[in-house]
Amino acid sequence: PATARLDRDGVLRVGGVRVDELAAEFGTPAFVLDEADFRARCAAWRRAFSDCDVYYAGKAFLCRAVARWVDEEGLNLDVCTGGELAVARSVGFPAGRLLFHGNNKSVAELRAAVAYGVGRIVVDSFAEIDRLAAVAAEAGVRQRVLVRVTPGVEAHTHSYVSTGQEDQKFGFSLAGGAAAEAVERVLAAGSLELVGLHAHIGSQIFDTAGFGLAAHRMVGLLARVRDTHDLELPELDLGGGLGIAYTSEDAPLEVADVAERLTAVVGKECAAAGLAVPRLGVEPGRAVVGPTTVTLYEVGTVKELPGLRTFVSVDGGMSDNIRTALYDARYTARLVSRAGSAAAHVVTLVGRHCESGDVVAHDVPLPDDVRPGDLVAVPASGAYHRSMASNYNHVTRPPVVAVRDGAARLIVRRETEEDLLRLDIDPADQAGAAV
Ligand code: LLP
Repeated sequence: PATARLDRDGVLRVGGVRVDELAAEFGTPAFVLDEADFRARCAAWRRAFSDCDVYYAGKAFLCRAVARWVDEEGLNLDVCTGGELAVARSVGFPAGRLLFHGNNKSVAELRAAVAYGVGRIVVDSFAEIDRLAAVAAEAGVRQRVLVRVTPGVEAHTHSYVSTGQEDQKFGFSLAGGAAAEAVERVLAAGSLELVGLHAHIGSQIFDTAGFGLAAHRMVGLLARVRDTHDLELPELDLGGGLGIAYTSEDAPLEVADVAERLTAVVGKECAAAGLAVPRLGVEPGRAVVGPTTVTLYEVGTVKELPGLRTFVSVDGGMSDNIRTALYDARYTARLVSRAGSAAAHVVTLVGRHCESGDVVAHDVPLPDDVRPGDLVAVPASGAYHRSMASNYNHVTRPPVVAVRDGAARLIVRRETEEDLLRLDIDPADQAGAAV
């Protein structure tokens, strides 16, 4: 995080708060989120994409505090489930600045979104166009929609998070003609108002070429829509996907450079096609929240396998960071509760779960006197960590602590065993209950 500093005694400070004090107060594992950094990143996106709509992608990490910060910093919010929408609603997030995504939104979710007045719903299938048209008609409103298009761009990223190519579940194919047909069907639905097109090519992307190509193809479709329907759509949303640095090997793009590239491509192509430049939208998730957070763990067992490797176990693991196991993601870690010896050894940082794939970070250098009770921090763990956390092995999910100006406050509390048991129905308690 931007405000992270090492004190002279080797203790990390984030937002002006020492992590040993955080561990004492909130326990470990814990997600420590630098609020000033989060807000600064929101502001940087707003600045870079001025005159554009910046939607924070809540899937990366969402809670009520975050929804409020996003609102206060003037960003819009992208939700992709009724649950994320419920968080937004619970803080009164301005409905007009919400955008609702998803390839399989339920009728109940669509009704909830329409009833709240969600600004834009991104339609993802022909069945959904019909469903939404019916829901909007029933509510007596004209719902604004974007059509999600698959532009056929291969983002060079992990196949699990790559969404621009043809063979995947999202959107309407541009090449296959489905996108043009979707536009036609939305235009024909009296209860829907088509305001633009949407494309998202993938996530954790490090070069602008894919974004540029997607923008080029999308402007081509805007021109086709104009030619076919005599209609210039006012909005073009190019999704999220900007990569961040997890290790020193990653070289992320600058937000300003991406903004410049996208606006240049769209501007030039529109001029060539004789189109008015549409209002651009972007949906960053990871790039806003990822770098703001460290996960704080306490070291337990240290096991040296002579001639093989050293396993350093921490009190969390794949339940708070599934990315290493799922995407073979790379992370770093460092000792943050004391200086440690100058000599380092390369260890495998593992969790506490009952399987050997439970790795937090492969091949991380840690001081060779690392021992039980030490605190280690894993940076860049703000996006898709807490939001993808699980209760595997009946582990309680860690809290999120926001730090700022020397003060810490809980924004998501730690789960308790009571929380877990509350969902679990004991048949013995039901004996004799009426069916
Ligand atoms: N917009 C849409 C339509 C998306 O599907 C996504 C991410 C975003 C925006 C935000 O993308 P971002 O800026 O965060 O890259 N769990 C995976 C990432 C899944 C991304 C899903 N969609 C991971 O941990 O890498």
